[in-house]
Amino acid sequence: MKALVLAGGSGTRLRPLSHAIPKQLIPVAGKPVLAHCLENIAAIGVTDVGLIVGDRGDEMRAQLGDGAALGLRITYIRQHAPLGLAHCVRLAADFLGDDDFVMYLGDNILADGIAEVAADFAANRPAAQILLVKVANPREYGVAELDADGRVTGLAEKPAEPRSDLALTGVYFFTPAIHEAVRAIAPSPRGELEITDAIAWLVARGLRVDASQFHGYWKDTGKIDDLLECNRVLMERRRGEVRGTVDATSRLYGEVVVEPGARIVGSVVTGPAVIGAGTLVRDSLIGPYTALGRNCTLLGAGIEHSIVLDGVSVRRVRGIYGSLIGREAAVCSAIDDGHRRLVIGDHATVEVA
Ligand code: TTP
Repeated sequence: MKALVLAGGSGTRLRPLSHAIPKQLIPVAGKPVLAHCLENIAAIGVTDVGLIVGDRGDEMRAQLGDGAALGLRITYIRQHAPLGLAHCVRLAADFLGDDDFVMYLGDNILADGIAEVAADFAANRPAAQILLVKVANPREYGVAELDADGRVTGLAEKPAEPRSDLALTGVYFFTPAIHEAVRAIAPSPRGELEITDAIAWLVARGLRVDASQFHGYWKDTGKIDDLLECNRVLMERRRGEVRGTVDATSRLYGEVVVEPGARIVGSVVTGPAVIGAGTLVRDSLIGPYTALGRNCTLLGAGIEHSIVLDGVSVRRVRGIYGSLIGREAAVCSAIDDGHRRLVIGDHATVEVA
């Protein structure tokens, strides 16, 4: 069994942040979204991973290398344009060969792992097995229809009139039967080769497609609020550990991870919180549900329910909430005459009280 992880795409819903960092590399609970995916794959005993990358492949390679640190062997597969999920399967045909595989969207978080569905698939080996969740707004998802035995009888991508409230998550299991399906289908009206069309092709030919309902926590991290919610959920599961330094005038409450080289001085940190390696927190109030990246400087700062990427500095600004601050950004208080000075990149959102 192999894995195919999809980390190309354009990330339009996460602009402007995705101009600076591919969405799959944005950290939640102190680790890139993609690392959470790869850990779930390693946990089901799969080691051979094909990673579909777009024009940000170099950054992914710089972070993940050959995958050995995660116990994986990663083969990078370049996709020149985001032509659809089924296009990724076409591209990976040589890598996948005659093996069964799990296809995993690299921007999806499944906080409870995929062991149960992997065991089901291995036991029954249907041509395809999909993982579904009940959603309130099925028009925004790929939607499946099932018969009384839980077999898939129909699929539609973002249907105007959904026939069920069961949405496809970003995890699929396939036998090699899928290769003929992805070769047979044509692009959809939005110009993509849809994996839902390929699976529907299997159903139409009488091949068995099973569905499992997923009861754990699942999120497609397409938007900022999704990332913040994942951050909150995953941080709740992390245990605290102090490997940096905390001076005698500081207080830590709850589960706080202080990575090596981080320094906390004259501050209060309320967990769950992660203070990245090399970060200085002085005279500040941090957390709960806040993950600070590496080598940040927080002086007189107040920040909670937020994700702060590497190299950020926050000086004399309190009341930061529900925020995502990109790499090397600087946030500081008004200059003396009360004017605000803003140097902001394209498409940014700034809320000023
Ligand atoms: P999507 O979230 O469906 O698409 P996107 O990344 O282009 O984002 P947006 O809708 O905000 O523009 O993609 C799901 C995952 O699959 C994501 O990790 C990107 C990846 N992907 C590819 O690798 N190749 C593709 O052709 C597509 C469509 C997605």
